[in-house]
Amino acid sequence: MAPGSNLELVKERLATARNITVLTGAGISADSGVPTFRGKDGLWRNYRAEDLATPDAFERDPRLVWEWYNWRRELIATTRPNPAHLAIAELERRTPAFWLMTQNVDGLHRDAGSRNLTEIHGNIWTVRCTGCNRVDENRDVPISILPSCLQCGALLRPHIVWFGESLFAADLQQCSKVLRNCDILLVIGTSGVVYPAAGFAAVAKESGTFVAEINLDPTPQSSLVDVSLQGRAKDLVPLLLDPL
Ligand code: OAD
Repeated sequence: MAPGSNLELVKERLATARNITVLTGAGISADSGVPTFRGKDGLWRNYRAEDLATPDAFERDPRLVWEWYNWRRELIATTRPNPAHLAIAELERRTPAFWLMTQNVDGLHRDAGSRNLTEIHGNIWTVRCTGCNRVDENRDVPISILPSCLQCGALLRPHIVWFGESLFAADLQQCSKVLRNCDILLVIGTSGVVYPAAGFAAVAKESGTFVAEINLDPTPQSSLVDVSLQGRAKDLVPLLLDPL
C-alpha cells in the first residue's frame, strides 16, 4: 500500500474510533529540542545509563545523578510542545474515551493540554523523598544539590522510574486496561526496546486492536503493527486529524 493510503487508513480508523490509546516515546519530543536516548545524538551514546539512571548509581553518587538531572532540567525548561503534542491533546478533546501513555519525563504532553495520561517513567519536575516517599512538584532550575525533603529532611531523588526499577503498579494496571479496551493504538516516536512499553503493541494486537506506528525509522514492532508510517511526528501526527 502506498504511504498516502496508509495515512488515509489510519485517519479513517481514528475518525470512527470511540476509544483511542496513544503510546509516545522520546521521538515525539525530538522536534521540541529534547534529545532522544538511542538516536545518533542520543543521550545513551554519550552517557552510561548505569552511571546515571539506576538506583545503584544514585546510592553511589547522588551528586553526579542530580547534576545530570539539573542539566536535563535546564534543557527541558526552555522547550515547548510541538505540533505533534498539540495534535494529541486535540485528539483527546475529540474522542469519547482517550488515554495517553508516555515514556517521556519532560512534561510536554501536559503543557500541550493532555489530561488523560500516564507518565509511566515519571516526570522530571517531580521529586520523591528517599526517607518518607513523599512526592512533590519541584520546578527549580537548577535544583539545589543535594535537595532535602521539607517534611523529614531526607535526601530527595528524581521521581523517575530508573533501569532496574518496576513501573508503579497503578500505572501498569491503567495501561493494561486501556490497551485491552481501545479501538486503536497509536505508537509514536519510540524505539520499542524498553519493556514493558515495548510490549504494549503486542498486547493490543492480542486483543484484536488496530495498531499504527509513527517513527522516523523502522522499529522491532514495525512488522507486528497494522500500519507503519515513517516520518517526523510533528509532520505526521497533525495530518491524522485533518478531515478525511
Ligand atoms: P529512544 O531514544 O530509544 O527512541 C526514540 C525513537 O524515536 C527512535 O525509534 C527514533 O527513530 C524515533 N524518532 C526520533 N526522532 C523522531 C521524530 N522527529 N519523529 C518520529 N520519531 C522520531 O527513546 P524511547 O523509545 O522513548 O527510559 O526510550 C525508551 C526509554 O529508554 C526512555 O523512556 C528512557 C530510556 O532509557 C528511562 O529514562 C527510564
